[in-house]
Amino acid sequence: MVTFMDIHTNSFMQKMQNPANSSDADPLAAYRIEQQPYYQPWGNEIALYHHAYQSRLPLLLKGPTGCGKTRFVEYMAWMLKRPLITLACNEDMTASDLVGRYLLDAGGTAWHDGPLTLAVRHGGICYLDEVVEARQDTTVVIHPLTDARRILPLDKKGELVHAHPDFQLVISYNPGYQSHVKDLKTSTRQRFAALEFDYPLPELEAGIVTRETDISHALARQLVSLAQSTRALKNRGLDEGASTRMLIYAGLLLREGVSVHDSCEMTITRALTDDPDTALALSQLVEAHFGPRTLTTSA
Ligand SMILES: Nc1ncnc2c1ncn2[C@@H]1O[C@H](COP(=O)(O)OP(=O)(O)OP(=O)(O)O)[C@@H](O)[C@H]1O
Ligand SMILES: [Mg+2]
Repeated sequence: MVTFMDIHTNSFMQKMQNPANSSDADPLAAYRIEQQPYYQPWGNEIALYHHAYQSRLPLLLKGPTGCGKTRFVEYMAWMLKRPLITLACNEDMTASDLVGRYLLDAGGTAWHDGPLTLAVRHGGICYLDEVVEARQDTTVVIHPLTDARRILPLDKKGELVHAHPDFQLVISYNPGYQSHVKDLKTSTRQRFAALEFDYPLPELEAGIVTRETDISHALARQLVSLAQSTRALKNRGLDEGASTRMLIYAGLLLREGVSVHDSCEMTITRALTDDPDTALALSQLVEAHFGPRTLTTSA
């Protein structure tokens, strides 16, 4: 079975083996962010991250799905001029997927640094997305990196890597729908300073949707208002309400000329739930915000 992690790791390996993307002079060239990512701050998170980075504090970003955590890290990596290596964690991920492994190639067996080791050696920001999805025996490899030692033991290679002065570890997770079993171990959690994310205030969120989709601000504002109503259903039929990401998807369909009801049905109602009653309740919310559905479905 090919997992997302495999795909991610394969593309990682391809990047690392492609001389056009990386060089001896800058092994992380492929991970540099050249263009400023669009990021709309909602508080003092940029300054706080900046201060945390000055001491290379490991950071935990908490918050619901699709609220801007990844975009924020991309923005900060660009601002700090550090390469960013992102890994989506899952339960099939092993410690070797993080630190590296011996692989057979033309010359025999050779060690290949994994994404974490690469960031540790060469001074990148390593971002482990949805870290609670990884098994606890995998997450413990980050422990000696995230305390005063800042070291990464490569047991299979018999090497102790001392972190580059620019290295920083950032992890994210969504506390909303984690089961107790999947929560972070206390000994892991207490190694991180935390920044809590939520959906931005309505005006800011509408601005993000407008900027990302080119729909009018008024329409974006209505989508945000709908999203707020769905967020009120959290734990009352929904694990999470509609995210900023979903509103952007809705806006992209609207930009294509799809009707507001069809757009919201595809990107919000059907995406949020499989339960017919909850879907009906969500469709009614859409009608409450945008009026009843007419027979004409597309503009
Ligand atoms: N503050 C923001 N500034 C700019 N764009 C944002 C912001 N917040 C959200 N977005 C938009 O929402 C999309 C989803 O955000 P992002 O992928 O960063 O979410 P996330 O919190 O990492 O979600 P997940 O937990 O599912 O990984 C982004 O691609 C971006 O278009
Ligand atoms: Mg993300």
